[in-house]
Amino acid sequence: MSELIKRYEHAARQPLDQANSLPFAVYKDAQVAELEADKIFHRQWVFVCATGMLGEAGRYFAFTLAGESIAVVHGKDGHIRAMSNNCSHRGTPLLKSGFGQIEKNIVCPYHAWTYSDNGELKGVPFDTNKCVDKQRHELPKYALQEWMGLLFINLSDTPSDLLERLNQINPYLQHFHMDRFIQAYEGVAEHWNCNWKLAVENGIESYHLFMVHRETLEVNTPSKKAYYIAGDANWSLTGGEIVEKRSVLSKLFSGDTPEPLNQYMLIYLPPGFIGILSYDSFDWIAVTPDGPENCFVQGGGMSEHASGENGKGSDAFTAAFLQEDKDICELVQSGMGSRHHQGGKLLEVERIVVDFHQYLAKHLFNSPVSDFRETEAAEMFK
Ligand code: FES
Ligand SMILES: [Fe+2]
Repeated sequence: MSELIKRYEHAARQPLDQANSLPFAVYKDAQVAELEADKIFHRQWVFVCATGMLGEAGRYFAFTLAGESIAVVHGKDGHIRAMSNNCSHRGTPLLKSGFGQIEKNIVCPYHAWTYSDNGELKGVPFDTNKCVDKQRHELPKYALQEWMGLLFINLSDTPSDLLERLNQINPYLQHFHMDRFIQAYEGVAEHWNCNWKLAVENGIESYHLFMVHRETLEVNTPSKKAYYIAGDANWSLTGGEIVEKRSVLSKLFSGDTPEPLNQYMLIYLPPGFIGILSYDSFDWIAVTPDGPENCFVQGGGMSEHASGENGKGSDAFTAAFLQEDKDICELVQSGMGSRHHQGGKLLEVERIVVDFHQYLAKHLFNSPVSDFRETEAAEMFK
């Protein structure tokens, strides 16, 4: 184990009162990125997209997960499957990345090996003497599970039980009636020049709102009105007051609402899913790595109506605060050059960052982690 990896483990496992930022070099180091790909992105549950984004048969989402090309496909038989998106001949990515539609079959752009939408190899041009064993060349499948209309993938052959973990969150969500949110929409698809952990840490803490988002998020959801609800290394919930409360229009439709609905809730599902739940919508970004110093940020959301007055993933407000986040994350990345810096103290308002670090400690190093914690704020929601 390298000196840096040892320091990484030590920093990541600390409880809040001892916790510091991670050593800066872990946001740049290639060996660290490989370790995280192996132990986290290729072995743990990772968010893909909302089930509602794969509406009709033939619709797919293709993406790269820590170097692995993957397609999640809504098949003609009605099943949604996760499979390798590498052609089993010479490895060419089959479906173009992003959302798309399969016309009839999946045809490799290189030599036109042809697969059905469930990954079976159907045709091999010029294989006159039938030397290709079709069964052996099927596309490998991966585990896929759904929670609250969200799809998660696990590349491991022996995945843990995702629902056992996430169903613990359900009682906190009851006032929001998320089953109303039947309209899913795609948000941003961006490439940020920073390590994935910086984008996650920035996305989960509300400490930076009063500085970075002074004229955007801070106006309606200020730093000082944010609080911790519950969490540990497995998932975390924080919340905050929505200062302007709900729009007049939505109040008109549904009358007065209980106090929790004047709050937003941040649902963090490590490694990279960060959701903001409010009465009107559930919006998120999902962060995955693209090498040591870059990451993908994919947005999306769901709401009750096709054009909810809040929370559209691509509106000007969202674009503005995401640009602020991108800019600050890329600035921080430029400061990560130090091989020696140990990282500064984390504050109580950054407790959720400590949860994330403990997730890293648990899965990268098998380290013991702090117990589950719930604050008084939880009573408002449960
Ligand atoms: S690489 Fe796909 S057909 Fe050759
Ligand atoms: Fe931010």
